[in-house]
Amino acid sequence: MYDINEIRKQFPMLNGKTMQNKPLVFLDNCSTTFKPQCVIDAISEYYTKYNSNSHRGDYDLLYQMDVKVDEARKTIADFISADANEVVFTDGATGALNLVAYGYALKNLKKGDEIIISYSEHASNILPWFRICELTGAVIKYVPLNDEGKLLPENLLKVISKNTKIVSLAQIGNVLGYTIDVKKFAKIAHQYGAIMVVDGAQSVPHMRVNFKDLDIDFLAFSAHKMCGPTGIGALVGKYDLLMNMDPFVCGGGMNSSFTKDGEVNYRLPPEKFEAGTQNLAAILGFKKAVEFINSVGIDAIHEHDQALIKYAIGQLEQLDNVIIYNKDSNNGILTFNIKGIFSQDEATLLNYKGIAIRSGEHCAKILDNYLGVKATCRMSTYLYTSKEDVDAFINAIKDGGDILDAYFND
Ligand code: ALA
Repeated sequence: MYDINEIRKQFPMLNGKTMQNKPLVFLDNCSTTFKPQCVIDAISEYYTKYNSNSHRGDYDLLYQMDVKVDEARKTIADFISADANEVVFTDGATGALNLVAYGYALKNLKKGDEIIISYSEHASNILPWFRICELTGAVIKYVPLNDEGKLLPENLLKVISKNTKIVSLAQIGNVLGYTIDVKKFAKIAHQYGAIMVVDGAQSVPHMRVNFKDLDIDFLAFSAHKMCGPTGIGALVGKYDLLMNMDPFVCGGGMNSSFTKDGEVNYRLPPEKFEAGTQNLAAILGFKKAVEFINSVGIDAIHEHDQALIKYAIGQLEQLDNVIIYNKDSNNGILTFNIKGIFSQDEATLLNYKGIAIRSGEHCAKILDNYLGVKATCRMSTYLYTSKEDVDAFINAIKDGGDILDAYFND
């Protein structure tokens, strides 16, 4: 059984107060998530018990850290059903997508090749590809969204061609929150000889993702969106692709030898892509975050998000002054506006009531081509969000409506 009270007890931030000394209702979990005490302890234990480098010495303390990094890699790999040597530590999903861009695409793409993305992608899954196009002469194409803002595999068929080399899409968009059928997209991409890159920043924390079963080529995600520390994430890649990829950052730890004449032997993946001392405290925190999620159950988390959003949508639908942009949302993301009110003003009003949501473009700055509006409000849930949090949000929207109506009627 999903014991929300027991779960909430483990998050110190949930006892927090806002700057106006009101209880904090945190509904910006797409942006980042709170950390349970066990994750905070795991990070701190690195500094109090295990502080050493890894892969660079022959003494016990360091060897112990090597083992811990390997264990973390295995825990994270198991979580998304990949092999441990397919998991590269990066500084987050953004770093992971840039690694595919500069390590794989820069090496393999040429003038006239195509990279397919969509209007609903986050900047991290657009700008690296724009840069690769500048550097190689490749071109960007967009999978059209349907009338409801969804990405359907059949629409990929409208734009893909024999020149397509990369299809890169978010499994769950960070604004509309719809889940795409990654397996079907990957199948089509492969039929045309392209690789399938998946931005899993919003999906891996919230639903079961099976790297092998989806048959995708690369998967990127961040720990801080799944109860883990900031500054750490992973790029998961099929091993043969990792083997043929160029390193993006070079330095210690990623080479086995080099000479004065510039001959370099790189280590095998994943170390080939992990130059420099890694964020070791964060790696331990990342592992603990995955263990914590496993203890709650990823399927239960997904159901919890879905139930809360369904409830929130049902409540908001009853209000005449609310525009909902993703009525079919089946994940913990609800995007809306209040008629006639600029999204940042609404978010500021909610902030005054102790409720944290995100407003603006949410880093998805070309989605306005579909939405027809630049800025929206977004509330997003996670495993510790309670029905009371959602009620506080709904009530604040209702009150806000009154205040704003009164204001406009003056
Ligand atoms: N990607 C994060 C968000 O959607 C920052 O808010």
